[in-house]
Amino acid sequence: MTNSTDRIIIFDTTLRDGEQSPGATLNVEEKITIARALARLGVDIIEAGFPFASPGDFNAVQKVAQEVGTESGPTICALARATQQDIKTAAEAIKPAAKGRIHTFLATSDIHMEYKLKKTRQEVLAIVPDMVAYAKSFVNDVEFSPEDAGRSDPEFLYQVLERAIAAGATTVNIPDTVGYTTPSEFGALIRGIKENVPNINNAIISVHGHNDLGLAVANFLEAIKNGARQLECTINGIGERAGNAALEELVMALHVRRQYFNPFLGRPPESTEPLTNIDTTCIYKTSRLVSNLTGMMVQPNKAIVGSNAFAHESGIHQDGVLKHKLTYEIMDAQSIGLTNNQIVLGKHSGRNAFRTRLKELGFDLSETELNNAFVAFKEIADKKKEITDWDLQAIINDEIHQVPELFRLELVQVSCGDHSRPTATVTIRNPEGVELTDAAIGTGPVDAVYKAINRVVKVPNELIEFSVQSVTAGIDAMGEVTIRLRHQDRIYSGHAADTDIIVASARAYLNALNRLYSALQAQKTEVKI
Ligand code: KIV
Ligand code: ZN
Repeated sequence: MTNSTDRIIIFDTTLRDGEQSPGATLNVEEKITIARALARLGVDIIEAGFPFASPGDFNAVQKVAQEVGTESGPTICALARATQQDIKTAAEAIKPAAKGRIHTFLATSDIHMEYKLKKTRQEVLAIVPDMVAYAKSFVNDVEFSPEDAGRSDPEFLYQVLERAIAAGATTVNIPDTVGYTTPSEFGALIRGIKENVPNINNAIISVHGHNDLGLAVANFLEAIKNGARQLECTINGIGERAGNAALEELVMALHVRRQYFNPFLGRPPESTEPLTNIDTTCIYKTSRLVSNLTGMMVQPNKAIVGSNAFAHESGIHQDGVLKHKLTYEIMDAQSIGLTNNQIVLGKHSGRNAFRTRLKELGFDLSETELNNAFVAFKEIADKKKEITDWDLQAIINDEIHQVPELFRLELVQVSCGDHSRPTATVTIRNPEGVELTDAAIGTGPVDAVYKAINRVVKVPNELIEFSVQSVTAGIDAMGEVTIRLRHQDRIYSGHAADTDIIVASARAYLNALNRLYSALQAQKTEVKI
């Protein structure tokens, strides 16, 4: 059997490796929301989590498998270390999916084997086929990763991969776990695997890489030229440390430079057949959703999805673009879903128009979500004349935050100016339903609000990041506030949008505090990978 593909398979690990970013913790509902968006985006495989890590992770993978793992939907994958317990738990979690995959891994670099695993090469060579075969007893679709492959002895790696494939692995994934390799080295590693693993044609070669040196995307593109056909990536490149290879950068590189990559997939250069299954017009909104729900801000100059990615500031560039777009633009902003559609709705727009526009934007809300979003829309429309697609997205992203509102903001009021001391009063309903009011003075209005909230909520924390972004241009624009706070070495994020940035700031802070509070209640026990 030859296991090959004539296009590039996109394996999204936003919900697993991406969620390992400090502070990016998502609850089950948020994971389902992102999984639905990934399915709409057209990813082939969703790595939904690491079920053995905690009952919460197990539950999330199982729910994603149930809700998103339909016959026509993506394959749902679960991560498992190469142990029977991990694999069995992963198999159980993905059971509801129409198409399920188990991804098991074991380190193969000398440094990992000696210090982390405390195992010899011989022991690793014996465990890998055993565990792949065990995973195979549950599902046909089994992926094996030799962790830290980028720093493993290639000759040893070939032996491990041969055994994994012989035991039934249908995908072998080559991780540059510590983001150490350079593009030509990584390409050569993939070529070496293709040339030296005798049964390699029975499996798809996948790549996984971290961005410690900023080379993950470049490494993957070189890997494709040398035979890799599956890319493991995350939205906005979030993930452990410096993150993973960014899905949007990979997909758009393959889209914009299709003619260059076509021959590496055996196609004529001029073929217009897409190289991936991704609907590129869903890229921008998926990026915003992931950023809002994880609290991981996208830097303005980030390729493809940064706010400056399509902005021309220099006069020479603006002049060139006005004369002919292609002078300075290699891709069209509309190809990632940025529209010029300005005025869509206003305060007289009815429920039907609202629902229809959301459908057009690709949001499929439940009746309750729609009701809540419509109330929020009406409130914003009262303050803001024109509601654009960007505003709608901010409203929806805000509304579908599924953090239980244990503490609820009932009122926030500030007094500030250049001759007064910034003072804030807040009224908050606590989890027992009691309304509590307190006030504080701060260095500025937001500081005063946060101090007042702290006096009510009483969960010690350190604010480590606060940012406000305008959703659209204009004096009445909505402001989106994202914050990150630390409590006992864990980071929690919060997000909210409102036309009043003090209100958005207060709600974003409570959003993070609610996350922290429910995490304290859940007292999750976690297994570290
Ligand atoms: O970076 C890594 O090696 C991983 C593996 C579990 C594939 O995330
Ligand atoms: Zn990783």
